[in-house]
Amino acid sequence: MRTCLALPKCHEIPFPDARTSEDTRCPEELVRLFLEEYTQIGDVVLDPFAGYATTLRVAEAMGRIPYGVEANRERAEKARCIINHKYNLIMGDSRDIRTLASANT
Ligand SMILES: C[S@@+](CC[C@H](N)C(=O)[O-])C[C@H]1O[C@@H](n2cnc3c(N)ncnc32)[C@H](O)[C@@H]1O
Repeated sequence: MRTCLALPKCHEIPFPDARTSEDTRCPEELVRLFLEEYTQIGDVVLDPFAGYATTLRVAEAMGRIPYGVEANRERAEKARCIINHKYNLIMGDSRDIRTLASANT
C-alpha cells in the first residue's frame, strides 16, 4: 500500500498576487489525482474554499462542472478570470452556502 505521494507543485498559471510570495494554491497534480480517482466526466466538483480556483480550473479542464465559494473578494475576482464557468464561483462565506446561491444570482 502506498503511504505517501511525491508530486510536483507546479501551476500552468503564474501566482496572481504580486504582493506576496506565499502561494496557497493546491498543487494541480494533487487535484488531478483525486479528481481522476473519485469523479467522472460531467460530475459537479464543489470547492468551498476556492482561493484562486486551481481546483475549479483543473476540474473544468477534466470535463467536470466546477462550483466554488471564496470569501476574499479580490481572490474571487481573479479566480473568475481563469475559469469558463465564471458564475459558478460565488463570493462569500461558504458557511452561508444555503443562502449564498440565491443572493448571487
Ligand atoms: C488554501 S486556499 C484554497 C486553495 C484552493 N482550494 C485551490 O484549489 O488552490 C483557502 C481559501 O479559502 C478561503 N476561505 C477561508 N475561509 C472561507 C470561508 N468560510 N468561506 C469561503 N472561503 C473561505 C480563503 O480566503 C482562501 O482563499
